[in-house]
Amino acid sequence: MFAVFGNPVAHSWSPQIHQCFASQEGRQLVYERRLVPIDSFADKVQEFFRSGGVGANVTVPFKTEAFQLADEVSERAQAAQAANTLFMRNGRLYADNTDGVGLVRAIEQVANYGLCDKRILLLGAGGAAQGVIQPLLNQRPASISIANRTVTKAEKLAAKFATSWLPVNEIKPDYDVIINATSGSLQGEMMPIDLAVLARAELVYDMMYGSEPTLFLQQAQQAGCRQTVDGLGMLVAQAAESYYLWHGFRPDINDVVLALRQQMDQP
Ligand code: ATR
Repeated sequence: MFAVFGNPVAHSWSPQIHQCFASQEGRQLVYERRLVPIDSFADKVQEFFRSGGVGANVTVPFKTEAFQLADEVSERAQAAQAANTLFMRNGRLYADNTDGVGLVRAIEQVANYGLCDKRILLLGAGGAAQGVIQPLLNQRPASISIANRTVTKAEKLAAKFATSWLPVNEIKPDYDVIINATSGSLQGEMMPIDLAVLARAELVYDMMYGSEPTLFLQQAQQAGCRQTVDGLGMLVAQAAESYYLWHGFRPDINDVVLALRQQMDQP
């Protein structure tokens, strides 16, 4: 039995995605959504694994708690200080984080864009940003610069990963790839970035997704950016890595992204 734990969780696509993966290898799978009260994440997770649970995905707002709850953590969970994947290994609760590798695969395999030697601008310095920096660095980009509304948070995160940071109003059109890891799109607000910065980029990626292009991607399209991509690929690719950890099978990502996009477009 598998499940995704979150609050809210009703919107989660994880059950559909994991069912698509399971059908690729002809596996029968039980994968449920578990709405967890804010103060009982640890109890619910322990209960799940005691009663035969095999693997769990963890979403907002429990990723940090999942990391802290585990007996053992992977290097990528350690770098992110957060976990989105849990399972038992030799009787111990093991936590991993597949978000960062999901972003990298979405950019490289779904958007067909190589990150090696590219200059990356990462917008945001919250949990989502922290989770993707190490996997991005592993692709050997020319540089990663972090910009955030609250400058001190960008500075702190950059120091942790030995990358650079800059204030939003000092961003110049010097980047090949711009990745939005802020939650600004959700509130219909954007950072005041010079349109020339977006126009100059080869790829603008928003970790958010929806049936319509996010506000950030609309801005980039209007500015004339050649390739704008939303976070649906990342959602599927992070799930694929969890699936691999649990079942030892690497699902095809692209077909599932297409199927999900069609489902999202339906009224
Ligand atoms: P998450 O886990 O999604 O990263 P978070 O840790 O709360 O959530 O971080 C949210 C990020 O989105 C932060 O970088 C935040 O900027 P601040 O550090 O200045 O708060 C950014 N963010 C949220 N709303 C924003 C907005 N309207 N404009 C710009 N940045 C915003």
